[in-house]
Amino acid sequence: MDIKVYSFTEIGSTNDYAKELVEEGIDLPFVVVSEKQTKGRGRRERSFFSPTGGLYYTYTFEAKDDLGRYLDEIPVTIIAAVAVTKAIEKVTGIATSIKWINDILLDDKKVGGILAEGILDNQGKPKAISLGIGINIRHQEFPGDIQEIAGSLNWDGSKEELAEEITRSLESLLEKTKNSDGREAILKEYKDKCSTFGKKVVFQLDGKETEGEAVDLDESGQLIVRVFGGQRITIFGEAKIKKEQ
Ligand code: BTN
Repeated sequence: MDIKVYSFTEIGSTNDYAKELVEEGIDLPFVVVSEKQTKGRGRRERSFFSPTGGLYYTYTFEAKDDLGRYLDEIPVTIIAAVAVTKAIEKVTGIATSIKWINDILLDDKKVGGILAEGILDNQGKPKAISLGIGINIRHQEFPGDIQEIAGSLNWDGSKEELAEEITRSLESLLEKTKNSDGREAILKEYKDKCSTFGKKVVFQLDGKETEGEAVDLDESGQLIVRVFGGQRITIFGEAKIKKEQ
């Protein structure tokens, strides 16, 4: 494939390195991959467990004005989640699902996550977007705090092939976002793979912990929840799946 790939055996974070490359003025798009991360990051300032064996990958592309408009309508995390699940299935034969909005699941365990970040230029205007993707592959053990919720793909094929397929899949979906039919099709694929619907979720509403049932996504990819009393509301923050008692 005709895209520059920066490969490492060890790095702090592929997203952090991608940001440095953008700041140096490197041509876009490009990919950064590493065998291991020492400062892997997740959403909301969490760390992302990144030992040798997994795939730690960042795709960085230009935040063009016209593309930016589309990306506001359909969050890049949605695009990346569809691209990753499709690529995993094609290369490994394993069918994963998506927990809204950015978790990749296998048998209800988190086997991957997505961290989308915007990079600004000197004037504070969007210059690039990084899609950071972490996939757990054959991890022997997890730290205590994630032991219950984390899982791995039991697969020992070529990670290079998986990374290449993720790039192909991302590029083809990003192209599709340029028209409304394409955006609708991506959202439909996302909904088909999303295992959050029908589940009880807990989220913050006006500073209060609130419960409801996840029922759908709106046209911009936000989660719609039915709360007690039947009212449907849209969630913009984070929704945690409530454990069955
Ligand atoms: C999450 O689960 O909250 C998102 C995890 C994203 C992890 C990936 S691994 C590659 C890239 N580099 C990082 O530091 N984070 C992302």
